[in-house]
Amino acid sequence: MTIKTISTKAFDDQKPGTSGLRKKTPVFMQPNYLENFVQSIFTAIGGATGKTLVLGGDGRYFNDTAAQTILRMAAANGAKRVIVGQNAVLSTPAASHLIRLYKTDGGIIMSASHNPGGPEEDFGVKFNMPNGGPAPEAVTEAMYAATKTLTEYKTLDTPDIDLSAIGRVDVGGMQVDVVDPVADYATLMESLFDFGAIRAMFTAGFTMRFDAMCAVTGPYAREILENRLGAAPGTVVNGTPLPDFGGMHPDPNPTWAKALMDEMFSPDAPAFGAASDGDGDRNMVVGKGIYVSPSDSLAVLAANAHLAPAYAGGLKGVARSMPTSAAVDRVAEFLGIKDYETPTGWKFFGNLLDEGCVTICGEESFGTGSDHVREKDGLWAVLLWLNILAVRKESVAEILKQHWEKFGRNYYSRHDFEAIETAKADAMMAELRGKLDGLAGVAFDHHLKIAEADDFAYTDPVDGSLSQKQGVRILFQDGSRIVMRLSGTGTEGATLRLYLERYAPGPEGLDLDPQEALRPVIEAAHEIAGISRHTGRKEPDVIT
Ligand code: G6P
Ligand code: ZN
Repeated sequence: MTIKTISTKAFDDQKPGTSGLRKKTPVFMQPNYLENFVQSIFTAIGGATGKTLVLGGDGRYFNDTAAQTILRMAAANGAKRVIVGQNAVLSTPAASHLIRLYKTDGGIIMSASHNPGGPEEDFGVKFNMPNGGPAPEAVTEAMYAATKTLTEYKTLDTPDIDLSAIGRVDVGGMQVDVVDPVADYATLMESLFDFGAIRAMFTAGFTMRFDAMCAVTGPYAREILENRLGAAPGTVVNGTPLPDFGGMHPDPNPTWAKALMDEMFSPDAPAFGAASDGDGDRNMVVGKGIYVSPSDSLAVLAANAHLAPAYAGGLKGVARSMPTSAAVDRVAEFLGIKDYETPTGWKFFGNLLDEGCVTICGEESFGTGSDHVREKDGLWAVLLWLNILAVRKESVAEILKQHWEKFGRNYYSRHDFEAIETAKADAMMAELRGKLDGLAGVAFDHHLKIAEADDFAYTDPVDGSLSQKQGVRILFQDGSRIVMRLSGTGTEGATLRLYLERYAPGPEGLDLDPQEALRPVIEAAHEIAGISRHTGRKEPDVIT
């Protein structure tokens, strides 16, 4: 086995986004493309020499080949040890856990999350830090800088490493530990939740459906729900991970997880339904005949977390991204705990979690998690729901109803307009930003009057860093709210995200259809931003 130094030319498009570098798979498969980025990761972290790293991915197309490349390069760059999931598979939260559990120097995760996989679809690579969380901007900037100047990379001349068998192999002096991707994660979940109570609930006839969307959580959900908790065989559907996710779009929302929605709204629906995304960090929760919006899910979890052993002592604080509804704020106020509002992106929770400011975080984009890892965690959210259901012995619908009666209801919806021409989307946002100062006092039908409008900026309370232009907020006098921002994760053109919210204090008017309840706010948003004038679109592609 000899170390080879290969000459290469810099690519000019290797700037990591919110979640590392994401590109179409053929882009990643170009000669030297992956190699250049991996070498740049090593440069940005001060070299791989002597380091212990975790490696795994969501099993999408190219995952296995990329893993071999990364292992060869890690060995050639002097890494001491790589802990890799069997067949190079690890869910994102499981990777975060392994990074922390084995006190490693970080890890490389291969995934494009909820984006489709396959030869013509998406692939991605990101680096997580020793705390288990995504690399902060300073580190991703250093990676980007390295991609622009590198001229060579190091690799090892060695045949493929067998990743199918659990155990230890030596690769050019580097120790490769192939581990069961599920075991340590399942043990962690067992330490957080009352598995006995949940098992008893299943034994008593409780039914659920978990749609793994042919993505990475299949084996995790089978082991935890069916094997350890005794859910009926077949509870987990689409449970075999496939390189192209069976042609599905592995994004758990009412549009892409339609089969689950249909089942949950059918006469013989199980009591509880859930789905997870490509790499297992997102979740959608549905009760029998009732959809739980991610913002409501976060609020209910925060209000009831003390029913699970890990959170029995109470929460230190909670955090939500700015576009997420204020439902959790009302819970925080009631509990007398701190409540943080951050920009979109899980990385903004990292400092708050590391400093012990918050215990639970969540986003409207189907992400919920806690301080047990440094990524959002789909199965964790499902298990916390199950723990709550097992203790309260009430249905999802009853729990939501009681929650709204106590706290009022934040009607909420997100409308996505996808694949808009970038120039048009930019022009729309620029025009909107240009008129924010003049919006206060402007009134619409239905007694809606704008109280204030701004562009969200955030100063991290831990490191003082400032993030500007994080989304336009239009706040109405009655507490209603419109937020507009362009997605940072789309791969085709621009995606406009329009977030809509209206607060109903109750006791009347708590069970309207959200789209009906929000109609005046939706109309105002279209009028203010001129969405159809700029983009030609009247109707959203996705409604959550
Ligand atoms: C990823 C991030 C999330 C973020 C989401 C939405 O999943 O991990 O933290 O909320 O993207 O991003 P977008 O920019 O597309 O709205
Ligand atoms: Zn994901």
